[in-house]
Amino acid sequence: MLTLDFHPTGRHFLQIPGPSPVPDRILRAMSLPTIDHRGPEFGALGLRVLKGIQQIFQTKHPVIIYPASGTGAWEAALCNVLSPGDQVLMYETGHFASLWNKMALRLGIKPEFLGLPGAEGWRRGVQADMIEARLKADTQHAIKAVCVVHNETSTGVTSNIVAVRKAIDAAKHPALLMVDSISGLASAEYKHDEWGVDVTISGSHKGLMLPPGISFNAVSPKAIAASKTAKLPKAFWAWDEIIEMNSSGYWPYTPNTNLLYGLAEACDMLLAPEHGGLAGVFARHQRWGEGVRAGVRAWGLEIQCADASVYSPVLTGVMTPEGVDADAVRRIIYERFDCSLGTGLGKVKGRMFRIGHLGDCNDLTLMAALAGCEMGLKLAGVKLAGSGVQAAMDYFASHAAPVPMRKAA
Ligand SMILES: Cc1ncc(COP(=O)(O)O)c(C=O)c1O
Repeated sequence: MLTLDFHPTGRHFLQIPGPSPVPDRILRAMSLPTIDHRGPEFGALGLRVLKGIQQIFQTKHPVIIYPASGTGAWEAALCNVLSPGDQVLMYETGHFASLWNKMALRLGIKPEFLGLPGAEGWRRGVQADMIEARLKADTQHAIKAVCVVHNETSTGVTSNIVAVRKAIDAAKHPALLMVDSISGLASAEYKHDEWGVDVTISGSHKGLMLPPGISFNAVSPKAIAASKTAKLPKAFWAWDEIIEMNSSGYWPYTPNTNLLYGLAEACDMLLAPEHGGLAGVFARHQRWGEGVRAGVRAWGLEIQCADASVYSPVLTGVMTPEGVDADAVRRIIYERFDCSLGTGLGKVKGRMFRIGHLGDCNDLTLMAALAGCEMGLKLAGVKLAGSGVQAAMDYFASHAAPVPMRKAA
């Protein structure tokens, strides 16, 4: 039997790096009655969310919304602009980059998977110089796209997309730039147009604070032009019919109405000037990341991301000492303190756990999560160098949030 209403006492701490907790305000918006998706009210809702999501991606160009998880939007991105046998350059930052690479193979594309050897690549961001060198060697311009993950959710590394753009330009290469910002969008700074990205892929259940179920392709004019001649089979995912119908706020199929109510609310929350707008969102996440990392350092544990210039504001990967099963630690924290943490994925399974600091959280939810981690680590027999809870409290207390949380009477 499902125990969805299982509520021992207090609240559950959902500290995985997505799905992230859904604010009550969004849950309330989603509880409105489902309406006729061909009626006039729906058209107004459609236009509103399409405008709002453009502001979140920081683009003037179309953003396609699919009733699908992020994986669907990955497939949509590839099959709209590529043809069977096309070469693409992908970069291995971690588990999600590897899954996208696997998908490309299954679709009949020829991905080349660049990366640093061994486990090292999973501790660092995209090395733009490697991309530049590879593109310079491709004098025939056989490579049709460069595909990178902005925020690698399996490791807690946020790659420098501007540097990747510069590398493509320095190589004078016409390849499209395709970026997975499924867990970066609406938490880490992201500028689709200014950064010269051709297709950005994202999802609802991370920074946007919605349940899983909708995902996105933000597309440049160059990507739309490529989609006109691309030959991979596509029907449901095809951009052209969707873009055409979106001009009046509708979709060619039945859209995910109640999640769109939630999206309208999420855009209002994220763009609200009184909370600092998107700049406020990014600054909040940077600060939360700093506080959590101060805690991890005080424990004397290693952060999965080994390059401070690409620390993720979305999540922190915590490496457990040799011989300590990170999943056993997570289990203790879940069972004893009602807190869910992200598991290690792929190459780092059992070697690390992930603390999400994205979306609807604040200093005190993060302090609770860190307290759960500290108690759980000690119960698992890990010798800690000091108190991460104290270090994070010191950080948060001495670094006020850029926009005050509330004003007292
Ligand atoms: C960076 C990244 N890419 C792709 C995915 C896959 O998205 P989904 O699980 O929504 O299909 C995820 C999911 O966590 C992710 O974090």
